[in-house]
Amino acid sequence: MPLVQADRLTRIGAALLRAAGATEQEASAVAAGCVSANLAGHDSHGVIAIPTYIDRIRVGHIVPGAEWKIVQESPTTTVIDGHWGFGFHVNAKAMQLTIEKAKIANVAACTVFRQSHVGRLAAYPLMAMREGMIGIATADSGRSPKHVAPFGGREARLGTNPISIAVPSDLEAPFYLDMATSAVAAGKIQLAAARGEQIPTGWIVDSEGRQTTDPRQFRKGGALLPLGGTEGYKGSGLAAMVEVLCGLLTGLGFGVEPSGRHNDGCFMAVFNVAAFRPLNEFKREVAEFGRYLKATPPSEGSPGVFYPGEVEYLREQQRKVSGIEVESATWDKLRALADEYKLAAEFDPA
Ligand SMILES: NC(=O)c1ccc[n+]([C@@H]2O[C@H](COP(=O)([O-])OP(=O)(O)OC[C@H]3O[C@@H](n4cnc5c(N)ncnc54)[C@H](O)[C@@H]3O)[C@@H](O)[C@H]2O)c1
Repeated sequence: MPLVQADRLTRIGAALLRAAGATEQEASAVAAGCVSANLAGHDSHGVIAIPTYIDRIRVGHIVPGAEWKIVQESPTTTVIDGHWGFGFHVNAKAMQLTIEKAKIANVAACTVFRQSHVGRLAAYPLMAMREGMIGIATADSGRSPKHVAPFGGREARLGTNPISIAVPSDLEAPFYLDMATSAVAAGKIQLAAARGEQIPTGWIVDSEGRQTTDPRQFRKGGALLPLGGTEGYKGSGLAAMVEVLCGLLTGLGFGVEPSGRHNDGCFMAVFNVAAFRPLNEFKREVAEFGRYLKATPPSEGSPGVFYPGEVEYLREQQRKVSGIEVESATWDKLRALADEYKLAAEFDPA
């Protein structure tokens, strides 16, 4: 697998997206967002997705340069119509506005609909965290194809419906949770299939509802399982609540829209820590809490305890130096696009 430095990968991704019609701002947001997912170790949400986004532009599912419109608002709430723009761009703008509102009102929330994939969800709560606020985001896939079977079922009727919460602290690694409510993100199954690897039992069932370790069964009528294994009803419940916040509260509805257009409904909320207690005290105590968790004696065979967000930070530090391993199938697709757009010189600079 080629090992590519993050800045080169970002330049390639942005050039391809620009060539496909994205504005400068959109291309940078999407490429940087994908590479930040690669750096964090979530390759399923990294540059592997860029060819898919370009396909979606070609079929009109993503509209470059789309209007970003507030359709309803109050001092603390906003409803945003992304007009099928890039989720990375639309959602970041929505979070920025929500942060600005929380600077005045201490709490603020928004819903966003008609936007494409938002990628690694943590990107948005982390924006609030950097402003001394607690950020929460949930996302579903609106009424686009579902991937997750509700607990006890064998047909996909829920999205992978991720939840992310980021909290300011004095820790070196940001303290944040970023997780799909399914056993894993759907992209991890596709990544395993692209890499020709098997997956652990408990991630998917095949079309007959049987457990399988073959990731290709997912595309053949299989379904992801909800988070929680034998207690998957809890993951299923979380996913249902995310669907209510992101599908029903946004007005997107539930179930599958026949067009198959990807539509990441989002609900996001921001809380200004200083409205509850002094920010510096809170940040200090979150750091103490993180270290307290880390100091837990390890269980047998365990590498020790990590606080939420730490694993991603450690991977990021390592990959910033070593570069990012891009699976050959993805690298070949990026190269073919570069050839098509006559960007070979940018792809392989002398
Ligand atoms: N936009 C979308 O539609 C969408 C849908 C689903 C998932 N996603 C994204 O996919 C990515 C992957 O999600 P996932 O659920 O497969 O990730 P995951 O299973 O790796 O879980 C990630 C979370 O678990 C924590 N974690 C991981 N290992 C840990 C350990 N050993 N100890 C303590 N904490 C640990 C991480 O810090 C993080 O908060 C996320 O970025 C998510 O936002 C996006």
